[in-house]
Amino acid sequence: MSVAAPESVEQVAAGLREVGYLPGESTALVSYLAARLGKPVLVEGPAGVGKTELAKALSRYLGRTLVRLQCYEGLDEAKALYEWNYRKQLLRIQAESGDAGWNTVQDDIFGTEFLLARPLMQAIASEEPVVLLIDEIDKTDQEFEAMLLELLSDFQITIPELGRIEARTHPVVLLTSNNSRELTEALKRRCLYLWLDYPSMEQELEIVRLHAPELPDTVARRLVEVIGMVRELDLKKPPSIAESIDWARALLLMGAEDISADVFRSTLSIIVKHRTDLDVVAERVGVKLAA
Ligand SMILES: Nc1ncnc2c1ncn2[C@@H]1O[C@H](COP(=O)(O)OP(=O)(O)OP(=O)(O)O)[C@@H](O)[C@H]1O
Ligand SMILES: [Mg+2]
Repeated sequence: MSVAAPESVEQVAAGLREVGYLPGESTALVSYLAARLGKPVLVEGPAGVGKTELAKALSRYLGRTLVRLQCYEGLDEAKALYEWNYRKQLLRIQAESGDAGWNTVQDDIFGTEFLLARPLMQAIASEEPVVLLIDEIDKTDQEFEAMLLELLSDFQITIPELGRIEARTHPVVLLTSNNSRELTEALKRRCLYLWLDYPSMEQELEIVRLHAPELPDTVARRLVEVIGMVRELDLKKPPSIAESIDWARALLLMGAEDISADVFRSTLSIIVKHRTDLDVVAERVGVKLAA
């Protein structure tokens, strides 16, 4: 089923829940505004708090295809936007007999048939509206960001040989960032902003239940409590929702009925993954559980 345009924030919140994503208040609000205003959303926050998943959930809820651009250092237009299919162009040139003039060949080989559409262009040119996820935008450089600006403000792409390609439909756009570098003001100005943080205990409990429904309730409660304690320590990398879910699944498999000091010690490496963090957590939280 596809939802053309959600009618209220509550509707978005309920819709996201239905597809397995528990939105916080501001998540539902910003998602609603994005769908209604057609503005891109910049989602920032620590690792593993559901930034990427939000885009996936929105695509499920809105019944739209998800087009994903995974960013990395050195990502360029050819991989993000479009590129000419040189091999095919060459074949065409060879196939045209020697007497065809340059102008004819040139008209031929710079048509859409010879274009390889990469995610950004796919999203723009799609007949059906899509959800476009530009994941980990902070990994790219400022030039790439500048290129995105034309796209995000006008929803069009200019190809020198072909002219302007305008969006036929308006995508819902989500950009995610882990804040490894400060994004430009120009980019931020064009986006709605959503800061995702670690959830409250109640919310996390619900998320854990959603992903590991068979886990006994007492264990699930204990789990989010312990995760909360661990997050309060000064760690290199505090456990995220992703780790809570992994831990819940592991405890379920092991048939744990409580999180005793022993269980905690043997499964600790599921939630903390740095040598120094392991020591700190074992000492501070492990001891508490044993008491
Ligand atoms: N609100 C939520 N409701 C349901 N599941 C969630 C929620 N938030 C996070 N999750 C789950 O947590 C896991 C991690 O989420 P995700 O991969 O989206 O994190 P992320 O913020 O993109 O992390 P990273 O910065 O490392 O890419 C996923 O398995 C996702 O299903
Ligand atoms: Mg992610």
